[in-house]
Amino acid sequence: MSSLLIRNGTIVTATDHYRADVYIKDEKVTAIAETLDEGADRTIDAGGCYLFPGGIDAHTHMELPFMGTFASDTFHTGTLAGLHGGTTTIVDFAIQTQGESLESTIQDWHSKADGHAVGDYAFHCAVTDFNEETRKEIPRIINHHGINSFKTFMAYKGFLMIDDRQMFELMKELVKHGGIITTHAENGDMVDYLVQKFLAEGKTGPRYHALSRPPICEAEASGRVIDLAHQAQCPLYIVHMTCEESLARVRTATLRNQKVHAETCLQYLLLDESLYFQDGFEGAKVVMSPPLRKPKDQEALWAAINQNLIQHVATDHCPFCLNQKEMGIDDFSKIPNGAPGIEHRVELMYSEGVHQGRISLNKFVDITSTGAAKIFGLFPRKGTIAVGSDADIIVFDPEAEHTITADTHHMKVDYSIYEGWEVQGKCRTTILRGTVAVDEGIACIGEGFGKYLPRKPFNPRY
Ligand code: URP
Ligand code: ZN
Ligand code: ZN
Repeated sequence: MSSLLIRNGTIVTATDHYRADVYIKDEKVTAIAETLDEGADRTIDAGGCYLFPGGIDAHTHMELPFMGTFASDTFHTGTLAGLHGGTTTIVDFAIQTQGESLESTIQDWHSKADGHAVGDYAFHCAVTDFNEETRKEIPRIINHHGINSFKTFMAYKGFLMIDDRQMFELMKELVKHGGIITTHAENGDMVDYLVQKFLAEGKTGPRYHALSRPPICEAEASGRVIDLAHQAQCPLYIVHMTCEESLARVRTATLRNQKVHAETCLQYLLLDESLYFQDGFEGAKVVMSPPLRKPKDQEALWAAINQNLIQHVATDHCPFCLNQKEMGIDDFSKIPNGAPGIEHRVELMYSEGVHQGRISLNKFVDITSTGAAKIFGLFPRKGTIAVGSDADIIVFDPEAEHTITADTHHMKVDYSIYEGWEVQGKCRTTILRGTVAVDEGIACIGEGFGKYLPRKPFNPRY
C-alpha cells in the first residue's frame, strides 16, 4: 500500500473551489478534509497551487496510419507528452480499415497501446465500413471491449467516409445497445469537388486546403448528422467543431429539445485561417480538417463554451513532422492532415481561458476533463477529485510563466503550432492514479504505466 498526502492546495472541480488536503491510498483518493494529519509515504506541499482533476483529451490519434504515413507520436511518446501538460487520460480513435472487422481494429489498437502508453487510455471505434458483419459486432464492442462511442467520417471520401444510409443504420444499432455516435462533420463530396477544381486550376498551395473546406461544408454536414441522429433518437457528439455556422445547427437542435454534444479543439479557439496565407509552405503546419477559421468563429466558440453548447475542448492531436508534411509540397491534398497539441491543451486553456477572463475556473475543469468523462462513461472514476475517484491530479502553479517552443516540448514532432506563445500558469506536478508521473518537468514513470479504461454504456442523464 503506498500513500500520498497533498497539503495546502485549492481543489477546483467542475462545480467547487475550496482549500483542502487530499489523502491518496494506492490509486484512489481516500480522504479530503480541511486538514489531514495522517502520515503518508510522501507529502506534497501544494501551497499557492490549484489541484485540478487530471486532464482528459477525448480526441487523439497516436501513430495513426493516415494519408500514406503515420502520425509521429506513439502511445508512449504522445501520452508522456500529455502528462507533461496535465493530461492523464486520452480517448484515441481506433479506425477501421475498410474491409476489416471492428474486432481486429480494436486488437490492432491494443497492440499499439498496451504496454506502451504511459498515461491512461480508452478507445473510440471509428466505423468506416458499416455492413451486416459490422452490425453484429456492435454489442460486443460495447459490452466486452467497453467502447461506447462510434465515430463516423462524413469526409475523406474513398477511404474513411461512409454514406448517410450506413450512418443512419449504425445509429439505430447504437440506440439498442447504449452507444453514442461521434462524427467528423464535413460534406465529403463538396470537399472532393473543390479539391479537384483547385488542382485543375493549378492551385496547389496549403491555402487551397482551407478554401476547399469552407464553413458551409461543415455546417451542412453538422445539420445533416444532427437530423439523422434526431430521427434515430441516437445520442450524438460532433467532434472538432470550428465555426459559427455549425454552432447555429446545434443551437437550432435545442429548439426541438434535442441534446447535441459538441467538441471543439484548442487550435480552433486560438489560431485563425490567416496562417494558411503565409509565404511558401509554412501553412502546411496547420493543414488539418476542418481548417482553422476566422477570428469571429473563435469568439463564437468561446461563447458556445459558456453557453454549454460545447462540452469539451480536445486537441485532435495528430502530429506529422515537416518532412511528412512535405509529401504535399506540390499538391495540398497530399499534405497529411493534422497537427500536434496534446502537451499544451490544459495550460493554454488556463492561460487563454481563465487568465484572460474568457471562462471561469470551474468551466475550465469541465471542458478539459469532467465533461468528456461524463459523456464517454468515465465519470466519476475520472474527471473529478472526489473520495473513491482515481487520484489523477494536477498540481497547478498559476503564477509560473513559460514559453512554448518545439526545442523543449516532449511531443515527437519537429515544430509547434504555438511556437513562442507565452503561457501564464504551469502544471508543476502531474499525478496519475496516485503516482507522481511528472514532477517539475521530470518524468517519474515510464513506458507501459498507462492502463486501458473500459467504459460504461452511454448515460443519457449526463
Ligand atoms: O486533420 C485532422 N483532423 N486529422 C486527423 C483526422 C481527423 O479528421 O480527425
Ligand atoms: Zn476529424
Ligand atoms: Zn481527429
